[in-house]
Amino acid sequence: MSRTPLLLPTSLNAESHSTTKSGYHVYIETFGCQMNAYDTELIRSIMKARGFQFTQVDEEADVILFNTCAIRENAHNRLYGHLARYKARKKERGLVIGVLGCMAQNLKQELLDSRSWIDVLVGPDAYRRLPDLLTAALESQRKGLAVDLSEYETYAQIVPDRAGEVNGWIAVTRGCDNFCSFCVVPYTRGRERSRDPEGILEETQRLASQGVRQITLLGQNVNSYRSSGWDFARLLIEVADVPGIQRVRFTSPHPKDFPPALLEAVAQHPTICKHIHLPLQSANDRMLERMGRCYTRREYLTLVEAIRKEGPIVLTTDLICGFCGETDEEFQETYDLVKEMQYQAAFVFKYSERKHTIAARKYPDDISEQVKGYRTNEIIELQKDISLQKNQALIGSEVEVMIEGDSKKSDQQWMGHTESNVTVVWPKDDLTRVPGDFASISIQDATPSTLYGIVMSSEK
Ligand code: 5AD
Ligand code: SF4
Repeated sequence: MSRTPLLLPTSLNAESHSTTKSGYHVYIETFGCQMNAYDTELIRSIMKARGFQFTQVDEEADVILFNTCAIRENAHNRLYGHLARYKARKKERGLVIGVLGCMAQNLKQELLDSRSWIDVLVGPDAYRRLPDLLTAALESQRKGLAVDLSEYETYAQIVPDRAGEVNGWIAVTRGCDNFCSFCVVPYTRGRERSRDPEGILEETQRLASQGVRQITLLGQNVNSYRSSGWDFARLLIEVADVPGIQRVRFTSPHPKDFPPALLEAVAQHPTICKHIHLPLQSANDRMLERMGRCYTRREYLTLVEAIRKEGPIVLTTDLICGFCGETDEEFQETYDLVKEMQYQAAFVFKYSERKHTIAARKYPDDISEQVKGYRTNEIIELQKDISLQKNQALIGSEVEVMIEGDSKKSDQQWMGHTESNVTVVWPKDDLTRVPGDFASISIQDATPSTLYGIVMSSEK
C-alpha cells in the first residue's frame, strides 16, 4: 500500500460536499475529557452530512475511529491496546482505521510509521477534512494525514450530532495559551480562540427547544473567553437567561482568570450552578512556579476566601502528584491543604511526562513511579474520606435533583445530579416523570461518589 499523505485544500469541508452519499458504516470510540466527547458529536455531524452512517456494533463497521486523548501516558496505552484488537480484523476484511484528536496531533507521522495499519490521522482542528480522507482510504487505499492547527477553527457552523438528551455541551473556546509546563494541550489543540457569542446563544436556544435543560460551557481555560467585547461572565449570564435552560455549568476555569463579576454571576444567578471546579494542581509555591500556573498558594487561597464569602458554593479540584522534583515536604503541603479545603471531590493524577512540554524540556522526571503512586493514593484516600463525610452529612435531608436518565446499574432507577454535581440514584416510583424533570429526593445512604434516596416529590 502506498503511503502518500493526502493533503487536500482546507476549503473542502463538510458543507461543500453535503450531497455526496458514501453509505459507509463507522464505529467511533471516544477517550478523554468532555471536550473530546463534544468533538465526537462534531465529527458525527461532519461525517453524516457526507453520507457516512454510524453504528454501535464494531463488527458492522467499514471504518473504525478512535477519538483520542494525550494528556497522560495511560491514555496512550489504552489506545494502543484498542488498536491492536483491530489489526487482525483489518487483515481479514480490509477495515479502515483512523486515529483522531490529541494523540493524532501529538504523534503525527510517528504513529503512522510505527503502526502501519493506521490509515488516517486527523488532529483536532482538521475534522472537516475527515470525510475526504476516509473516502480516499476506503476507495483508493490512500493514507491520510491532516494535522494542521488553525488559529480560527471553532467549528462554529457545525451543529453537533447529539442523541436527544437533557444535557448539552458547548465548546466556547478551543485550544489554550497558558502553557502550564506539564500540559500537552497547547501543542495538541493549538492557540486559544473563542467562538462568537451569537453562535453560542443560538446553539443554546436550539438545544433548549430540543429539550436540553442543562448546559455545560466547555473550554480548556473557559473563563478566559473573550469575543466581540464579551467576557466569560457576560456569556455565562446570557446563556443562563435562555428560556428553558434550568442549569448551567462550566469547566474548567483557571484560578488566574476569576474576576469578581464571574464570582457574582455564579453566586447570584438562579440557573448557574453553585459549583466551581478550581484546579489547584499543587499547594506548594515552588511546584506552582515550576508548573507555570501563574498563581501562588496565597493567591489561590485568597480566591477561595472570596468564593466562600459569596455563599455556599461547592468546590472541586484537580491535583498532580510527583511533579518534577517534588519533595516529601512539598507533597505534604498539598496533602494538608486538601484536608483543610474540604473539596467536594478531587481528580488526582500521577505526573506523567508529555513530549514537547516545557517540563519535559526543562526538568528531569525524577520522582519514582512508586513514590508517585504512593502520593497519589494518599490523596485519593484522604479525599474519599472527605467526600464520604460530606455525603453522609446529607443523609436525612432532601436534595433537589434533575432527572438525567437511568442509573448505570438498572433501568428501574433514576440517576441525576445535585446542583453541586453529586450523583444521586433512586428507585423509579412514578413513571410519568421523564429526564429533565426535577425531583426532591430524601437521602438515605451515601458513598464517596453517590447519594441514594427515595423521591419526596417531582416537579415538571
Ligand atoms: N500529568 C498528570 N496530570 C496532568 N494533567 C494535565 N497534564 C498532566 C500530566 N502531564 C491533569 C491536570 C489537569 C487535568 C485535566 O489533567 O490536573 O487539570
Ligand atoms: Fe493545560 Fe494549563 Fe491550558 Fe489547562 S490551562 S489546558 S492545564 S495548559
